[in-house]
Amino acid sequence: MNRCRTGLAVSLVCLITVLALPAGRAMALDNGLARTPPMGWNSWNQVKCYDVSEQVVKDAADAIVDSGLREAGYEYVVVDDCWQGGRGADGRLFSDPERFPSGIAALADYVHARGLKFGIYSVPGSLTCANTWDNYPVRGIGSLGYEQVDADAFAAWGVDYLKYDWCQAERDGIERQAAFAEMRDALAATGRPIVYSISEYGETQPWQWGPDIANLWRTTSDIAPNWSAVSSIIERQAELAPHAGPGGWNDPDMLQIGNGSLTPAENRSHFAMWAMLASPLMLGTDLTALDAETREIVANRSVIAIDQDPLGRQAERIRREAGYDVWRKELTGGRYAVALLNTGGASADLRTTFTELGVTGRYRVTDAWTGQVQGQAGGRIGTSVASHDTALYVLTPVGR
Ligand code: GAL
Repeated sequence: MNRCRTGLAVSLVCLITVLALPAGRAMALDNGLARTPPMGWNSWNQVKCYDVSEQVVKDAADAIVDSGLREAGYEYVVVDDCWQGGRGADGRLFSDPERFPSGIAALADYVHARGLKFGIYSVPGSLTCANTWDNYPVRGIGSLGYEQVDADAFAAWGVDYLKYDWCQAERDGIERQAAFAEMRDALAATGRPIVYSISEYGETQPWQWGPDIANLWRTTSDIAPNWSAVSSIIERQAELAPHAGPGGWNDPDMLQIGNGSLTPAENRSHFAMWAMLASPLMLGTDLTALDAETREIVANRSVIAIDQDPLGRQAERIRREAGYDVWRKELTGGRYAVALLNTGGASADLRTTFTELGVTGRYRVTDAWTGQVQGQAGGRIGTSVASHDTALYVLTPVGR
């Protein structure tokens, strides 16, 4: 999979790749996919286990198209856990006949017909997470011992994205890096381009070994639809910037925007910070019932462009104070994105300076939320930011 990993002869391309890697970055899985963080929708945060169905997935695909989110970049429609109905006598997985009566291939066709890509969920062990945590009764649906059978089935059905979730598979006596690598190789053997998303909740620092195995790796345990969960995940990403880049991304979990107790300010911060962190942007709310304010957040082209910047850098935290954070993300064209995140309980004037940001020269400062050009007297930028909200700027060099 990784051309640079095998063989004695190190090609010039590989040498240049290695020299160009940011410090700390291992070589990335070379499947040519996820050159920018994947964007799309996943069923889990919306419907969890028992309510997932082909209708829910079709509705999400239709809503992505109808609401203009496809044009904004949302692409992958992913069915999470609980689609499985069992394994047939031939060892092949089949879908739950009640909730997915048309089968997965037909569902993938439906999604593809709308100009989108289709994803699915499996696990390296014998039990899925829903088997363990949600009493999902269907057994024998993990990929252990069926890695190539399942990869071949996924490819035959038209799967473009696999989420492969650890789910305590150490209980099966397997080792996680080897198990994740086995499915990587099984997917490669199908010859179909399939984005490979792995999940072991950051338990064994997957950012250290993930780049060689997968296109994205979860960095934390599950997100929940409240500010305490979102902010504690942000807090844990600050050290991980060196490990992200084109083809291999830290995954602080799927978006909860539009769900639970998150306020509009918190939804904005959730989106702004996932963009700053070059995170996958996988929506997890009911897109058929998206209100205008939430839609405006997740469809904001400038914020999406920060996430999708082809340089593929993850933001670094420049300052952490009681009550606020300053983050800086390097972008293409000598530009930077800057986030001022109010972590405190009240509105506050949040400021930074070009000096603090480590940028020299003249820049035009644009508010990424509104597109308005900001004043920047003496290299100072900032504004009043509501509790749990985020001011987000793009700095573009001028006069050079
Ligand atoms: C969890 C995973 C969730 C979801 C769930 C399915 O382990 O973190 O994102 O996939 O399993 O059962």
